[in-house]
Amino acid sequence: MRLAIFSDIHSNLEALQAFIDHSFKKKVNLYVCLGDVVGYGANPNSCINTLQSLQGSHFIVGNHDNAATGANHNMVKDAAAAILWTKERLTQNSLDFLKNMREKIELSNSLFCHANPCGTSDWYYIGEKSFISRTFYLTKVKTLFAGHTHVASVITRKNFLCFYIRKPEDGAVIPAASLNRQIFNCGSIGQPRDGDPRASYIIYDTDKNVVEFYRVTYNYDLAAKKILDAGLPKSLALRLAKGS
Ligand SMILES: [Fe+2]
Repeated sequence: MRLAIFSDIHSNLEALQAFIDHSFKKKVNLYVCLGDVVGYGANPNSCINTLQSLQGSHFIVGNHDNAATGANHNMVKDAAAAILWTKERLTQNSLDFLKNMREKIELSNSLFCHANPCGTSDWYYIGEKSFISRTFYLTKVKTLFAGHTHVASVITRKNFLCFYIRKPEDGAVIPAASLNRQIFNCGSIGQPRDGDPRASYIIYDTDKNVVEFYRVTYNYDLAAKKILDAGLPKSLALRLAKGS
């Protein structure tokens, strides 16, 4: 089975469509979305409609999705403004979709979540050493897939040491270790923050036991123009072409 794993679309329809087109050519069997479908960008409802057309997919809730349905979150000013803007525009269909997203799922001996295994009770970022250890402590599965950081990466634990690969190159194929435990982060579709503006996603090939990393170019200018035209904070538009 080939699972396309993607996250942090953030209402960026141009990036989402480019990713889907790219993944179609990669013979994907199943899509697993790790959340943050909305927030920041100008097309929340269109992105949700597009995701709903991906038959048989799994959808995990992100902190921005959770906030858009009314949960309280401490967010920086521009993120909070975008959530407010989004809330005022969500259709009933979109609201129902966001409310029905799962906290986490297990598939093929792997755990899939947005930020970490805590679901909606804690949105900590898996990055610092202490949080990596905590994540391994909280889970039993060998492989964990997450988003939230907007930076693609691989963390492998071997003999209580952690080996970190940040931002694997487009086309990189990384073995899913058979003995060690790993955390794969798929990066972000709609707002990468690793200096590369291209949409980021991964494919987990369970037969070959490898994870493929991909980057996809999309129309950053159009997505940015829509943000400006919508009256959303300017910084949210400017960061797209920088990947920051
Ligand atoms: Fe996000």
